[in-house]
Amino acid sequence: MVTGGAGFIGGNFIRHILAKKEFTGRIINIDALTYAGNPLSLRDVEEAYGTKRYIFRRIDIRDRSAIDRVMEEYEVDCIVHFAAESHVDRSIYGPGDFVTTNINGTFTLLESARAHWEGKEGKLFHHVSTDEVYGSLGETGSFFEDTPYDPKSPYSASKAASDHLVRAWNHTYGLPVTLSNCSNNYGPYQFPEKLIPLMISNALDGKALPIYGTGENIRDWLYVVDHAEAIWCIITRGQSGASYNIGGENEWKNIELVKRLCALLARATKRSEDDFLKLITFVKDRPGHDQRYAINCDKIKKELVWKQSVDFTQGLELTIRWYLDNQAWVEEVRSGEYARWIEKNYGSR
Ligand code: NAD
Ligand code: DAU
Repeated sequence: MVTGGAGFIGGNFIRHILAKKEFTGRIINIDALTYAGNPLSLRDVEEAYGTKRYIFRRIDIRDRSAIDRVMEEYEVDCIVHFAAESHVDRSIYGPGDFVTTNINGTFTLLESARAHWEGKEGKLFHHVSTDEVYGSLGETGSFFEDTPYDPKSPYSASKAASDHLVRAWNHTYGLPVTLSNCSNNYGPYQFPEKLIPLMISNALDGKALPIYGTGENIRDWLYVVDHAEAIWCIITRGQSGASYNIGGENEWKNIELVKRLCALLARATKRSEDDFLKLITFVKDRPGHDQRYAINCDKIKKELVWKQSVDFTQGLELTIRWYLDNQAWVEEVRSGEYARWIEKNYGSR
């Protein structure tokens, strides 16, 4: 069972795993279809694998009886838990859903897994978390798996709480778990409120490219398919109870990254770089804005023989090409049309 598979990383994970020869199982994708979840992102998967190897259920992870029904009906043996409220800016303006989904929702899944798996072998709960739980770095240093937690935003605090619950269920009840803490992802199907897709979409529309503060904040970027592969390595070869950091080893100041995007957009659209650069606009900073994240991912590289496979230029080019070819998807998720479609198709389910 995958939770949050209609979102950005969960959807890419499902597509990646089903294409693997060594995976012969079935995926049940449960997702509440919030503003960030789009079942149309998996239309190709539904067409290729639907009903037999890919099943979608619109379910809220806070709904214990609905989760229990899926656990029983499909005899779930592994949960890969992506579902979350994931956008820092939204957590600042409305933290309520972050607390109930990220904390209570994870609790609900853990309790359902515990009830269904007690005394049984061969089960695994994998919890997908973030590097933001470790807090913010200065100019040097990086986050290791044993770096003390120091979350700073309502989003990262709620993710940190969920990580603690997962570890407690392992320690106290013996629930078989693994965890991963990953840096910033980018790639196809990312909701255009996060930095890279927002900048691509705004640039193509000739709209301002809003940079918070001075643009000196630093993030470590990883192509989403590399994250999906890292999770596959963990659920198939990881040690029970262990956490693994996943990162791009690819740090960029926001302003430098946006300028790089402008250059690559100019190349892809055969337009002048200045057409895009002139859209850069410095705006009021995010409250409590974390300065820098940097992940040390030596552990997963060494123990599970994982490594990044897509370099940044190649990844950004693939991402730009995807957004250029899928403007209709962007329009759909941005417009009321998409919300109306969800209501029509899933309203009564
Ligand atoms: P996303 O916002 O694109 O997708 C989240 C999905 O969860 C959506 O499909 C949404 O409908 C679903 N969801 C939300 N609340 C739900 C609920 N109550 N019940 C069921 N489904 C619900 O997020 P993403 O960027 O794909 O992130 C996925 C996971 O990875 C999150 O746990 C996030 O914390 C973690 N993560 C993200 C990044 C990143 O850069 N995006 C990096 C590291 C870790
Ligand atoms: O580090 C992993 C985390 O990365 C994930 O856990 C989160 O789910 C994911 O949203 C992401 O959080 P960030 O806050 O780092 O991502 P975001 O894309 O919102 O912002 C990246 C940087 O760009 C950050 O320093 C804020 C800045 N920014 C963002 C937006 C949306 C801008 O300058 N302007 C913007 O308009």
